[in-house]
Amino acid sequence: MDQYRVFGNPIKQSRSPFIHQLFAQQTKQRLNYQSKYVELDQFEQTIKSFVKSGAKGANITVPFKERAMTLCDQLTERAQLAGAVNTLTFVEGKIYGDNTDGEGLVKDLLNNNIPLKNSRILLLGAGGAAKGVILPLLAQAPESIVIANRTVSKAEDLIEKFSNDKLSASGFDTLTEAKFTLIINATSASLTGNVPPITSECVANAYCYDMVYGKELTPFLLWAKENGATKVVDGLGMLVGQAAESFRIWRNVLPEIAPVLKVLRTKDDS
Ligand code: ATR
Repeated sequence: MDQYRVFGNPIKQSRSPFIHQLFAQQTKQRLNYQSKYVELDQFEQTIKSFVKSGAKGANITVPFKERAMTLCDQLTERAQLAGAVNTLTFVEGKIYGDNTDGEGLVKDLLNNNIPLKNSRILLLGAGGAAKGVILPLLAQAPESIVIANRTVSKAEDLIEKFSNDKLSASGFDTLTEAKFTLIINATSASLTGNVPPITSECVANAYCYDMVYGKELTPFLLWAKENGATKVVDGLGMLVGQAAESFRIWRNVLPEIAPVLKVLRTKDDS
């Protein structure tokens, strides 16, 4: 049976095996997908021996997404610009690297009927999570994307890499434009119970998205909802969306996201 793994540290919490099992059932594919904990100093050799074993592909998660790039024989443009890979495909001993996170986000935004074309997007954060979604967001032809970060120089460095005049950089306190169609929280602030310090005028009448997800609304989404956001959406759909795009790359068939998301949401409620 074709073998796939997700490698990370930590990995126990990973929902990828369950998601890919549902995709396999849905598309009637036979494959084996498991999660694997990797010691920090064992990553490269673990991947190399997995390739040697005749496996077909792997997902890479925190903290190995950047390191995985150096193992690849070939990278897609979106992986290069993201500076990280989350999907490896093995063909005749060669490793092909891609990054499906941005595609997962875009799919989920569109599934939630959030307008992207000609929209004014505010992207909060300038770390790995933000970097990975810029190119796929630009591909949706927004009017503009403002990247706001606590450390402004990181946002400035980031937009320089893309050299696209739709992009601009800002700090949180220097955000002058309050009328955004969509605000995406790509900071890790939610993980520590914090909300990026933007004004409540920014979120009023805007779609608000947090890449983080959990049983409850994230602090950012809760705050946005209380301050008049049009709609708030967490990142669970992005997780399923990036997995669907990995599955498509490996199996050449795109699974449906909605039924899988529904199962995960029901599981979360129990
Ligand atoms: P990731 O891969 O999850 O993006 P990262 O590369 O470490 O992780 O980036 C974390 C991002 O969250 C950064 O943009 C960080 O801002 P700084 O560059 O100024 O450090 C942002 N961040 C983390 N905690 C935050 C908080 N409490 N408020 C605002 N931004 C925060």
